[in-house]
Amino acid sequence: MTDIPAKLSFAPGNADHLTGRGSMATGHASASRPVTGATPLLEVRDLSTAFLTSNGELPITRQISFSINAGERVGLVGESGCGKSVTGLSLMRLLPPHTARITGQAHLAGQDLMALSARQMRAVRGRDVAMIFQEPMSALDPVFTVGEQIAEAYRVHFPVSRAEARQRAIAALVEVGIPAPEQRYDEYPHQLSGGMRQRVMIAMALICEPKLIIADEPTTALDVTIQAQITDLLRSLSERTGAALIFITHDLGVVAETCTRMITMYAGEIVEDAPVDDVLTRPRHPYTSGLLRSLPGLSARRGVLPSIPGRVPSPGRMPDGCRFRERCGHAMAGCEREQTLLPMAADHVARCWRARDLRLPGSVNDMAADSPVAHNLAVAAGEIRP
Ligand SMILES: Nc1ncnc2c1ncn2[C@@H]1O[C@H](COP(=O)(O)OP(=O)(O)OP(=O)(O)O)[C@@H](O)[C@H]1O
Ligand code: SF4
Ligand SMILES: [Mg+2]
Repeated sequence: MTDIPAKLSFAPGNADHLTGRGSMATGHASASRPVTGATPLLEVRDLSTAFLTSNGELPITRQISFSINAGERVGLVGESGCGKSVTGLSLMRLLPPHTARITGQAHLAGQDLMALSARQMRAVRGRDVAMIFQEPMSALDPVFTVGEQIAEAYRVHFPVSRAEARQRAIAALVEVGIPAPEQRYDEYPHQLSGGMRQRVMIAMALICEPKLIIADEPTTALDVTIQAQITDLLRSLSERTGAALIFITHDLGVVAETCTRMITMYAGEIVEDAPVDDVLTRPRHPYTSGLLRSLPGLSARRGVLPSIPGRVPSPGRMPDGCRFRERCGHAMAGCEREQTLLPMAADHVARCWRARDLRLPGSVNDMAADSPVAHNLAVAAGEIRP
């Protein structure tokens, strides 16, 4: 059995630089944001990303603005092509600078990530903000053992000996629930199952105790039971370490179980941002309501939503005003006017001209009782057993 030095463990209290640690309730994600009274951990303002193509600049995301407190877990949802990954990659500054043009600001613990030099950003990436991807194999190097890769992720940021980094990596393997960590340390990525590889990626993301983790569909490549384990792991690690989490997913049931807030993106814009319980019971944007009435885990991936006709417009062919207009059953004259996110309730904003007068279905009661989303929501609410 590994003897893990206390200073290398991930026990609560081991990252004093984090505020709000351990403040989130366990169990079903709380509706309310942590009341810290402090500056948000992440404050994104007017972040827009465009790709430079042979036909000129192609705008992808437009004026993305939101903020996250320490310890919050935010589900970022929307159909395929809405700009979720581009938003995550833009925040990480991982898009190639020669093809992507990013404007706007993203202050993480006070420093604007967009204003940092490439060198400064390398010091922040992994240390203060880390990203977990859908397919761990593409992020792991096949020629190094998983332990070496986790240890190296630590040594890049901290001046420790190889032996100390190894101990730290083994502690991280323990933390993410990998059995026989000392033995696993010396194994190569191909020797591990998909679920174990994703745990390794999470260990790599966590080892420097980042303030923010961006997980981009971290369970999509895994089978269903492993998906639930990885999702639970991310939630419990966020609760224990106080790290904020942006969870990009198509599965609204996972958001209901894991997150405190949900941000809906449509066609490159945020259309709704609200505490999870609020938005599930009373979505204010017809698109969010449509997502809740669909089977997002399956149908959004195929590009067809049963409750919303049509498809997301392509970048470069966006309609004026409300981008959802051509698919919206509530559209009326005036919806073509330019929009902003309008306040609806405490911490709840929506980009819809009719948001205040529409009463849109969204809660579990409005869904087909046998839908996977309804099932997950009912489990999360403790109404039925998993
Ligand atoms: N390198 C690129 N060059 C040009 N367009 C791109 C590039 N990367 C992404 N896009 C476009 O940007 C849009 C948003 O893509 P993004 O990958 O962010 O969508 P997403 O919401 O993450 O979708 P999914 O749920 O399928 O992962 C899409 O229309 C996509 O085709
Ligand atoms: S602004 Fe109009 S078209 Fe757009 S979502 Fe609201 S009601 Fe529908
Ligand atoms: Mg994506």
